[in-house]
Amino acid sequence: MTRPEAESRIGELRLEIERHNYLYYVMDSPEVSDSIYDSMMRELQKLEAEFPELIVPESPTQRVGAEPLDKFDSFTHPYRMTSLNNALNGEEFDEFYKRVVKEMPGEGLFAPVFSCEHKFDGLAIELIYENGSLVSASTRGNGEVGELITTNARTIKSIPLRLKPGCPDWLAVYGEVLMYKQDFSALNAARREAEEPEFANPRNAAAGSLRQLDPKITAGRNLRFNSYGVKAREDEKKINGITSHFERMNYLKELGFPVSAHRIRTASIDDITGFHRKWEFGRESLEYEIDGIVVKLDDTGAQEELGYDAKSPKWAIAWKFKPAAETTVLREVEFSVGRMGTITPTALFDPVMLSGAKISRATLHNFDEVLRLDVMIGDTIIVERSGDVIPKVVGVVKEKRPGNARPIIVPEKCPVCGSKVAQEEGEVAYSCTNPVCPAIIRERIKHFVSRQAFDIEGLGEEIAARFIELKLISGFPDIFTLKDKEAELKALDRFGEKSVNNLLAAIEKSKKVEYWRFINAIGIRYVGEQTARILAVAFQPAERLMTATEDELKSADEVGDVVAASIREYFGRAETRDAVMKLFESGVEIVYPKKVDVSDSPIAGMSVVFTGKAEKFSRDEFKELVRRYGGNPSESVSGNTSLLVAGENAGSKLDKAKSLGIRIITPEEFITLLGIK
Ligand code: IVH
Repeated sequence: MTRPEAESRIGELRLEIERHNYLYYVMDSPEVSDSIYDSMMRELQKLEAEFPELIVPESPTQRVGAEPLDKFDSFTHPYRMTSLNNALNGEEFDEFYKRVVKEMPGEGLFAPVFSCEHKFDGLAIELIYENGSLVSASTRGNGEVGELITTNARTIKSIPLRLKPGCPDWLAVYGEVLMYKQDFSALNAARREAEEPEFANPRNAAAGSLRQLDPKITAGRNLRFNSYGVKAREDEKKINGITSHFERMNYLKELGFPVSAHRIRTASIDDITGFHRKWEFGRESLEYEIDGIVVKLDDTGAQEELGYDAKSPKWAIAWKFKPAAETTVLREVEFSVGRMGTITPTALFDPVMLSGAKISRATLHNFDEVLRLDVMIGDTIIVERSGDVIPKVVGVVKEKRPGNARPIIVPEKCPVCGSKVAQEEGEVAYSCTNPVCPAIIRERIKHFVSRQAFDIEGLGEEIAARFIELKLISGFPDIFTLKDKEAELKALDRFGEKSVNNLLAAIEKSKKVEYWRFINAIGIRYVGEQTARILAVAFQPAERLMTATEDELKSADEVGDVVAASIREYFGRAETRDAVMKLFESGVEIVYPKKVDVSDSPIAGMSVVFTGKAEKFSRDEFKELVRRYGGNPSESVSGNTSLLVAGENAGSKLDKAKSLGIRIITPEEFITLLGIK
């Protein structure tokens, strides 16, 4: 074959192969069998091997994968790739709907038209086409900059390498890379066989396959692409003059992109709700996983008017499905001991896949919950989990209770130290009665050194457990006398000179401790970080807290009967009071917050909310500042809010404050307002 002949045959074959790809992946109606497709592909490969100078990146042969890369280059997106706000239930969707109606041009005169589609559970990519050719593919990354994965994307057969003639000369197309459920199962089966770790879910498998430095691996994974967005350069209206999202998707399909067949366009909220319901129950029938529907304002002009908040468009929402639930069999209940001695039951059950993760245990919280659920070992139970939320046992299928089901009995003896277990009066919890139970000591020390307490690096759980076992420490005060045992520590196996020095230095450094951290660290029942911060402002110095009466304690904000009694009990008991005194004896020094005359504070008595990010203070430091200056820090914006401090990337709280006409200032203005530098 002469070169010109080859060139023309190659051109024909490429067009024909891509046409069959389109029929198969986009139109879902193949015209030829796999073997005919394969024979065309082989012919093309042979010709390209003979005339290698005719190979171009858009050739279908290049889908098998180019040479491996050393690393992915980063890629700056021409437009920021945003994510979506979520609605977790119907009420949250209604809120979105009402807000859009209110903010729509036309002042609520017209019911807005929405486009509804699946929320694919994969990973987002951006494809850029210049003069009809795919020139780059990139992952989302942080929204501004992602990773360049062009060669990998070329291996995905449903991504067109060339667009139909007449397409705009520049296009950015957005969509999701997915792995179909069937391909996921096959991949995991093969990995099991090869004793390779399995992927937890199709999304992870898709992400792992796309982010391969060797494109040949990606090529072997049968990934799919589904598009859901498009942008033209600068002026969005240039997309063939189409200003409806729904129609733009139809246009993408014409250009050669796979677009979901399951879409509706409607102005009726009943239709939207119906679409949600249909797929919440119908999603099992799909070849791919979805975790909700996406509802987008259809008119792109109106989209522009509504604009974006910090991370997401205000004209779209992901209305998620209810958490995934599975039934399984409860095999055993395990008991653990917390830092207050509380015994917590944990359910151990046959593993189930729930929203992508393999789950085999869930806390039952306490024995009241066991009674409430009326659950027995051997029961068929219902376990629920949504997204990355902790799994929960939500019910029991009573009809399936086997004859040999066993009740869950409160253990008489502590599972760790064997001491008596008792229920304190008026309390739900059962506790180990041994104050020196190794589990309690371990948990207390873990809490004492944690970040919101003494923040001692290098005294992790494992090391602490070892020290307790070796009787080097038997309570938190012993941490500060560890330095007297330096030689002993250095003689320990797998604990070198350097780590001992580092640990002792970290302990020394932690001795100067902020007051609220100190209160949190010593472990008073019902006194967590939040209450510790309140007490730190209200009772200075520490001696005042140690001797305050219950009534005095109750005068502080948010301190009620139970907390006040617990604080009194803590300092009234010899062992705990002595432990605290020992801390002082070994040189622990409390750093008190600066006293402020609250009477002339500009925020005295005001409810102040912080949203977004600030350079000058963290969320916790903000709350402390507000309290110190006599204000009340709050998490949510409402009619009672007096002031919103809005930092960078402020989101919905800022919108809400604006709509309520609340005073809004920057973090810098807040610092100036308080008169601090
Ligand atoms: S639109 C400007 N549509 O969900 C809005 N996203 O939670 C950009 N996703 O990063 C996204 N299906 O990975 C859109 N039909 C759909 C989607 C979808 C899945 C993903 C996408 C995005 C994430 C946001």
